[in-house]
Amino acid sequence: MDSKLYFTVTLVVLAWVSVATTQAQTTTASTNTMATANTTASTNTMATANTTASTSVTAAPNTTASTSVTAAPPLTPNNTVTPLETNLNNSECGNKTLCVSEPANCDPGSGSCSFFSARQKSGQNFEFALAGETDGYIAAVISSDTTLGGNDNDTTYVCFNNNGSVKFTGAILNNTQLTKQNVSANNVRGRVNGTTIQCVFDATLPALPARTTSRTIGVITGTYNNSTFGAANTVIRTDGVDLSSPTIVQNLATTNTTAAPNTTASTSVTAAPPLTPNNTVTPLETNLNNSGCGTQNLCVNEPANCDPGSGSCNFFSARQKSGQNFGFALAGETDGYIAAVLSSDTTLGGSDTTYVCFNNNGNVEFTGASLNNNQLTKQNVNANNVRGRVNGRKIQCVFDATLPALSARTTSRTIGVITGTYDNSAGTFGAANIVIRTNAVDLSSPNATVQNLATTNTTTNNAVLFRQTLIQALFISAGVMGLAVL
Ligand SMILES: *[C@@H]1O[C@H](CO)[C@@H](O)[C@H](O)[C@H]1NC(C)=O
Ligand SMILES: *[C@@H]1O[C@H](CO)[C@@H](O)[C@H](O)[C@H]1NC(C)=O
Ligand SMILES: *[C@@H]1O[C@H](CO)[C@@H](O)[C@H](O)[C@H]1NC(C)=O
Ligand SMILES: *[C@@H]1O[C@H](CO)[C@@H](O)[C@H](O)[C@H]1NC(C)=O
Ligand SMILES: *[C@@H]1O[C@H](CO)[C@@H](O)[C@H](O)[C@H]1NC(C)=O
Ligand SMILES: *[C@@H]1O[C@H](CO)[C@@H](O)[C@H](O)[C@H]1NC(C)=O
Ligand SMILES: *[C@@H]1O[C@H](CO)[C@@H](O)[C@H](O)[C@H]1NC(C)=O
Ligand SMILES: *[C@@H]1O[C@H](CO)[C@@H](O)[C@H](O)[C@H]1NC(C)=O
Ligand SMILES: *[C@@H]1O[C@H](CO)[C@@H](O)[C@H](O)[C@H]1NC(C)=O
Ligand SMILES: *[C@@H]1O[C@H](CO)[C@@H](O)[C@H](O)[C@H]1NC(C)=O
Ligand SMILES: *[C@@H]1O[C@H](CO)[C@@H](O)[C@H](O)[C@H]1NC(C)=O
Ligand SMILES: *[C@@H]1O[C@H](CO)[C@@H](O)[C@H](O)[C@H]1NC(C)=O
Repeated sequence: MDSKLYFTVTLVVLAWVSVATTQAQTTTASTNTMATANTTASTNTMATANTTASTSVTAAPNTTASTSVTAAPPLTPNNTVTPLETNLNNSECGNKTLCVSEPANCDPGSGSCSFFSARQKSGQNFEFALAGETDGYIAAVISSDTTLGGNDNDTTYVCFNNNGSVKFTGAILNNTQLTKQNVSANNVRGRVNGTTIQCVFDATLPALPARTTSRTIGVITGTYNNSTFGAANTVIRTDGVDLSSPTIVQNLATTNTTAAPNTTASTSVTAAPPLTPNNTVTPLETNLNNSGCGTQNLCVNEPANCDPGSGSCNFFSARQKSGQNFGFALAGETDGYIAAVLSSDTTLGGSDTTYVCFNNNGNVEFTGASLNNNQLTKQNVNANNVRGRVNGRKIQCVFDATLPALSARTTSRTIGVITGTYDNSAGTFGAANIVIRTNAVDLSSPNATVQNLATTNTTTNNAVLFRQTLIQALFISAGVMGLAVL
């Protein structure tokens, strides 16, 4: 069993599965290469790819004219593994390669990092890289639907540790079970050091069903004993991605819930699907107050311990409802908007998910947004059940929201409260003033200490303002939920 999963996998996976064409069985040999393609008029078969120009693949019967489109025949399977001389790294992620890793943005060249990358070479032929930690295998799964290991024969590229040397095979993932199968992959290079394994290979992508353009990528690990692959643990799972587009993709499969101390509690965590966005605001009948702070709600107030029900008070509170779904409250004074920012790093404003309550001619309205630098851009967020009230410059709102996914395995988030103007003719928000910015607060820890690091007044040194209250069960499963992206 591999205890820890977190690997870096850089793989290029390509497979060529003939699709609906009945075909099915291709026992041995190379079978269905481009099968589909309409021989003569085959101009735009693979349409898509044009990127790195034609890396002159083999074939190409005719010289110049052949530059055109058919490009790149499927690769001939060859599972031989030669040594990978240097460690993989993440330097080309987002630039030349599509990458996804766990923890986010980790470098497979150093530390514990599960890593997958893809770089288009020509047409449907890609170079993949895969890295991570396992006692047995690490594998890249390419699925044409959103399920890894569904009944559609997901093509899988498996690198495994056979007594200290790296081996490679193609396979099909069915549920969590791998069955070996030929895949159009070759030029495999690999290295292993203890439980760290890395491999790089070229592969031809499996065909997609008609009209589909994106694929779900998975990275799985498991044991390898007695020539048998153990059940797959999903380390990385993405949304549908276009592999030819060099971007950094988010991992939706953060496996571990935070230190769930005891079993029973943890069962409840995976539950709770993300909330359906609904920005409708209904009236908040009573003033907010700080009575549940410290016992049921995690609260941050400026000034410290102030009561949003009386006097001038900037206020944020959070209470876990189920899994990643929380109830939030926000109060303060503004001519335009007040908003809560949740950041998975220590900086507010790197595309951080933001919940905005704003005063539109005396009515409270709500929107999700992304905060970049000091600028808000509207975006959907998984929030609903919004209630609000406004009285002059005082605004209060309450809403439920599904936490944006955490990057990596952190359970900490930086909380921000910002205010600014609202231009109701343009529907735009003015630059953000940071009213509250906390240290990274471990929402899973009921004893977190929260400080406001954004105290505007220059009192003395460490203005430790906030006493934290926590929900007993406040805890975040870095779970497999579709969440708004940070
Ligand atoms: C081949 O392409 C032509 C023109 O695009 C199309 O009319 C024809 O149906 C195609 N044949 C097959 C077998 O796909
Ligand atoms: C393909 O690349 C060539 C040369 O780089 C360019 O002229 C052409 O417009 C591209 N075609 C598409 C469909 O992107
Ligand atoms: C290559 O193309 C040229 C003109 O397009 C043609 O005359 C020639 O016969 C072709 N050669 C082969 C081997 O197909
Ligand atoms: C398979 O790949 C290895 C290593 O690249 C190479 O030495 C060998 O010749 C290849 N086998 C075939 C049949 O091409
Ligand atoms: C992408 O490549 C360019 C040019 O090589 C380089 O200047 C830039 O820093 C790279 N970006 C990233 C994110 O690595
Ligand atoms: C997947 O496995 C299940 C049983 O575990 C089996 O019924 C099903 O036919 C398998 N699907 C494929 C595509 O092999
Ligand atoms: C999956 O593979 C099995 C066995 O090769 C085949 O019978 C089945 O039709 C395939 N399913 C799909 C959706 O291609
Ligand atoms: C293997 O890993 C150990 C510890 O991480 C390191 O000291 C050693 O240099 C590595 N060996 C190789 C060949 O990279
Ligand atoms: C190893 O696998 C073979 C065939 O799959 C099986 O007969 C044998 O019992 C297995 N041995 C162990 C120790 O599991
Ligand atoms: C989750 O984290 C706990 C504590 O860090 C660890 O003991 C456990 O093995 C982890 N589980 C997985 C599946 O990584
Ligand atoms: C889990 O909770 C049960 C009962 O609440 C307790 O007996 C047990 O010791 C706890 N286990 C751990 C590891 O905390
Ligand atoms: C959105 O929320 C409002 C107020 O709660 C409710 O009346 C409305 O039906 C909701 N809309 C949808 C599409 O659920």
